[in-house]
Amino acid sequence: MHNPIPVTNDIYWIGVNDHETDLFEAQWPLPEGVSYNSYLIRAGKTALIDTVKKTHLTQYVEKVRRLAEGGRKVDYLIINHMEPDHSGSVPVLKQLFPEMNIVGNKKTLDLVKEFYGITTDTTTIADGDVLDLGGHTLRFVLTPMVHWPETMMTFDETSRVLFSGDAFGSFKTLDGGLFDDEINIARYDDEILRYFSNIVGKYSLMVQKAMARLQGIDIKVVASTHGPVWKKAPSYILDKYDLWSRYMAEPGVVVAYASMYGSTLEMAEAVSRGLSLAGIREIRMHDVARTHPSYIIRDAWRYKGVILGSCTYEMGLFPAMRNLVELLDEKGLKNRSLGIFGSFGWTGGAVKNLKSFAEKSAWSLVEPVVEVKCAPDEHQLDECIALGKNMAGALSV
Ligand code: FEO
Repeated sequence: MHNPIPVTNDIYWIGVNDHETDLFEAQWPLPEGVSYNSYLIRAGKTALIDTVKKTHLTQYVEKVRRLAEGGRKVDYLIINHMEPDHSGSVPVLKQLFPEMNIVGNKKTLDLVKEFYGITTDTTTIADGDVLDLGGHTLRFVLTPMVHWPETMMTFDETSRVLFSGDAFGSFKTLDGGLFDDEINIARYDDEILRYFSNIVGKYSLMVQKAMARLQGIDIKVVASTHGPVWKKAPSYILDKYDLWSRYMAEPGVVVAYASMYGSTLEMAEAVSRGLSLAGIREIRMHDVARTHPSYIIRDAWRYKGVILGSCTYEMGLFPAMRNLVELLDEKGLKNRSLGIFGSFGWTGGAVKNLKSFAEKSAWSLVEPVVEVKCAPDEHQLDECIALGKNMAGALSV
């Protein structure tokens, strides 16, 4: 989308689509790309809200020039978030528009100095401060740790557009449609949750604090730095973030397993059969050696039940399972029901490590814990089926 797109009176989307980056933050897959959203307000003064990743600078600057007075005058750059997917274009913009004043809170401007060496023509704002653009009045709402310490939101009191930074964002490019009534939202749902769970979910408590700050504000449009702009029904994305940041879940189960020679896979299938026999219809099986943890974290955030099974490798967890468990721990997901099982050949280790995760996570452990030497027999497979059935029971209470 090479042309600026009007959001409301005087406000334009001037973001870009990134189809080339394979891994967000060098670790989260982007099979459907991502957008970096920036906005321009053309009022008495011209203001930019955030910029884009520097890889897309040329297209971005062209859009700014097309809208800025005489192709060259930008009065303010308001920085809601300093992560370089949004601030990467700042130094070049500053060269192109030397009169541009950079607006941010104290932590923002510290990062502007540390990242880009810019210390002049800046304005430090505090929570609740107002910037009058002449025809549009902007109010700043500090929302730290959604997703960095300096993060804030900017609310245009005139048009009631909330420029929300990373909050309410999504992976996936904007494929022609920008607004929620221009897209098939169902095509975005998985990527919205994967973005939330991978990037923002760790800071759920701070998301809740940010949402409390937004209470009572009449928001007409939610304009995030990634993904669709929510104009027809902003409550859709606001409600999802509220539920997810309170760790609310749907009635389903993720079964993630690691298996080198098939024993643990056989157990995983028996567990899933137990789930199915007990009426669970949302069962997501993932082979951790072949599915990136990004997707498993997403499904763990979606569903109430998580069952982890691992073979033993070098007297511990299979490496991909160890990575998944560490990430689940790091993301701080809460209030899940957990089942665990595993196998070993000549000495144990996998189940012992999964038990440690069970204790650390404080998730509710569903019995039985099933551990098998070499290959499961009929009795042990029955125990796996029982684990699935008991998990279904735990979800129904
Ligand atoms: Fe989209 Fe935290 O950067």
